[in-house]
Amino acid sequence: MLDYAKVDFYTDTRLVDDPHAYFDFLRAQGRVTPMPYRNVMAVTGYEEMIQLSLDTEHFNTINSVVGAMIELPFEVKGDDISAELEAARDKIPFSSQIVSQSGKRHADLRSILARLFTPSRLRALEPKLHETADALIDQFARDGKVELARQYGGPYATLVISDLLGLPDDVRNRFRALLDDSVPVRMDATPEEMMKNPLVELGKDLFKLIVKRRLAAHPLLKPLARLLGAKQDILAEVATARFPDGGKPTLVDITGLSAFLFGAGQDTTNRLVCACMKVIATMPDVQQLLRDDPSRIPDFIDECLRLDGAVKSGGRICQKSTTLGGVEIKAGTVMILSPLAANRDPRRFENPGEFRLDRPKIKEHVAFGRGAHTCIGALLARREVAVSIERLLARMGNIRLSDAHHGPAGNRHFDYAPTYVLHALSSLHLEFDPV
Ligand code: HEM
Repeated sequence: MLDYAKVDFYTDTRLVDDPHAYFDFLRAQGRVTPMPYRNVMAVTGYEEMIQLSLDTEHFNTINSVVGAMIELPFEVKGDDISAELEAARDKIPFSSQIVSQSGKRHADLRSILARLFTPSRLRALEPKLHETADALIDQFARDGKVELARQYGGPYATLVISDLLGLPDDVRNRFRALLDDSVPVRMDATPEEMMKNPLVELGKDLFKLIVKRRLAAHPLLKPLARLLGAKQDILAEVATARFPDGGKPTLVDITGLSAFLFGAGQDTTNRLVCACMKVIATMPDVQQLLRDDPSRIPDFIDECLRLDGAVKSGGRICQKSTTLGGVEIKAGTVMILSPLAANRDPRRFENPGEFRLDRPKIKEHVAFGRGAHTCIGALLARREVAVSIERLLARMGNIRLSDAHHGPAGNRHFDYAPTYVLHALSSLHLEFDPV
């Protein structure tokens, strides 16, 4: 039996398969509660998570990705460390990513990405979502079985983000191969393995493509653009975009933003497809209902996001002493916020561990975060997963779990990827009757 009072959420892989029990334990101590290491407070309450996400005066997002795996390169003194934190930005891993930025810098970067997520852009992408889904399903439709994360969800997410950026087919396929079977922020990775992160390779490719498009847009080279083989595609638009005040993003800004989309939208979407199909495979009545009435799919996705959403933890750091949920928080305290835990707060959601398609206010979960950093890809993710469910249901009859891989009914087991960031099924083995 694990002693939850002592385990370290960031390093103990025994918490990976059932984080819910651990978060329930923490919540029972308090919705904002100290953890026994590294000056960390865990936020497991729904209201408290929203309050924390909205309070940009007292909480800084500089450690959004690394959470409590942060070492401040200065000694914390007093009740306001905001200036010291900003001065130390370069020394904090992943702090240049959009999700770790704040204020004007964050708004500037977000304005570039916002061009990709307009309703018209997403409408134009819609036929590709269907095409990509069917092309992937074609590859296993006659087999009567599939491992969904590897054969469908992973490649689907990579190909859709590539289409969002308007990448050519050869690059799309290379990215698919690069990201095959990747797991972000592995808890058990050696430093060498960390350095082999496929997003680094992908970033190098994107950098070259972006440089080409910037060069082609240069006033002196414009007349030669056709000779240089320059394309007027979506990536060219992003590469030459300006900040709202007319400022010019650097090449590194644009490459970082484009690569971040694969980091943020890849495994999240893959694992949401898997979480949804796990419910469909284990609840035949829900499967039938969605087949009979596909208009229920959006609500179904929201309840899956609430019950088993992909994001397990993110970080914040208290930059000015304050209180949260009645608990005193001193400057320098690391905050771990968990959409997964907040979505199972019984004060907000009745019987939170139960799947209920008719749950009132089903969209009020916090799986996509809240505040300035709310997921910019939420609408796309919802459409990607809805199209996937529609197409998988249309092409696969009588979907069920593979007993050989997940054990018999009543004694199922599922493996989750060893990462503290995501709640990510490692694999989902399904069987079905080919349609
Ligand atoms: C099931 C799918 C997804 C889930 C559950 C999810 C969840 C989240 C969450 C919780 C955040 C906020 C993080 C924080 O506040 O620290 C976030 C931010 C973000 N997500 Fe997603 N996401 C999903 C899919 C996507 C997709 C498909 C894309 C793009 C292709 C995307 C791009 C982003 C970006 C760029 C941010 C940073 C926004 C900012 O800092 O302003 N996400 N996501």
